[in-house]
Amino acid sequence: MNTHKTLTQYIVEQQRTNPQSTGDLSGLMNDIASACKKISHLVNRSGIIGIGGVADSENVQGEVQKELDIITNDVMVDHLNWTGHLAAMASEEIEEIIQIPDNQPKGKYLIAFDPLDGSSNIDINLSVGTIFSILRCPEGVTSPTVEDFKQKGTEQVCAGFCVYGPTTMMILTTGNGVDGFTLDQDVGEFILTHPKMTIPEDTAEFAINMSNQRFWEPPVQRYIDECIKGVDGGREKNFNMRWVASMVAEVYRVLTRGGVFLYPLDTKPTTQGGKLRLMYEASPMAFIVEQAGGVCSTGRERVLDITPEGVHQRVPVILGSKNEVERIISYHQE
Ligand code: AHG
Ligand code: MN
Ligand code: MN
Repeated sequence: MNTHKTLTQYIVEQQRTNPQSTGDLSGLMNDIASACKKISHLVNRSGIIGIGGVADSENVQGEVQKELDIITNDVMVDHLNWTGHLAAMASEEIEEIIQIPDNQPKGKYLIAFDPLDGSSNIDINLSVGTIFSILRCPEGVTSPTVEDFKQKGTEQVCAGFCVYGPTTMMILTTGNGVDGFTLDQDVGEFILTHPKMTIPEDTAEFAINMSNQRFWEPPVQRYIDECIKGVDGGREKNFNMRWVASMVAEVYRVLTRGGVFLYPLDTKPTTQGGKLRLMYEASPMAFIVEQAGGVCSTGRERVLDITPEGVHQRVPVILGSKNEVERIISYHQE
């Protein structure tokens, strides 16, 4: 019989490797896991309980919100704002920094999250997810502002994401490799099923939204053109293509079988400067991808080295198998 480690055991063991640990990060990780279990349950039942539709509102980026965007944001806030591990939160769905209520203790961490990634996939029953990034609250700060969140991705203490797909999975890094857990729905525990995930250095699979092709810059045009032509265009192999429109599903695929994922800089009026948000999409995924041996760049700079200009800043993202991402970076340098 398989006797896998639970996420709870894993967190306790990680904590014991650091004698100075106060248990705050462990507590926070457990809180996030609880929130994600609740979200998994809600996503799974959304059709039955009638919460799978469009809400009558837009978020800070002017995107139409789904009912579940709002509900999952509330689940995250309600699970995290009273346990004493956080000093403040930032969410894709809320313009301002979310403060901890005055009657609750404040902790030493900050979190930025995308409560429901890929929410355009909700009504068609494809994978969605939750992405999070944990930072330290600067010393002595009791009411964090946007300025306190503007830390480079290299400062992250922990990053992770959940995918609500055929199974619910949690992928985590604290800077010591990447581990994957599967939710055992019967017991309500995440089980360590994918220890030490690594991204193969080479790949023959790319993921990009081809409908934006006319808006891309020349280096990306060149790279994708070469992938499509394959052995007839100078590459040593033919390429396959995927596009799920859920970053969580795409990064999970890259972590398991390699690949490159691109949401590049484009001139499309709605996504100028890139579509994905630095602090709760690009940066946590960059931490995970690098920890698994991959590369994550805008094409011009390492995503983890970007100093954020704002909590909802967008950046271009090119991530995945090392040799392919480095090839794309070299096309940007030529
Ligand atoms: P969100 O649902 O949180 O707004 O994020 C969706 C993101 C990302 O998950 C995905 O890779 C991308 O947007 C898809 O964009 P297109 O619809 O432009 O392909
Ligand atoms: Mn998202
Ligand atoms: Mn989202």
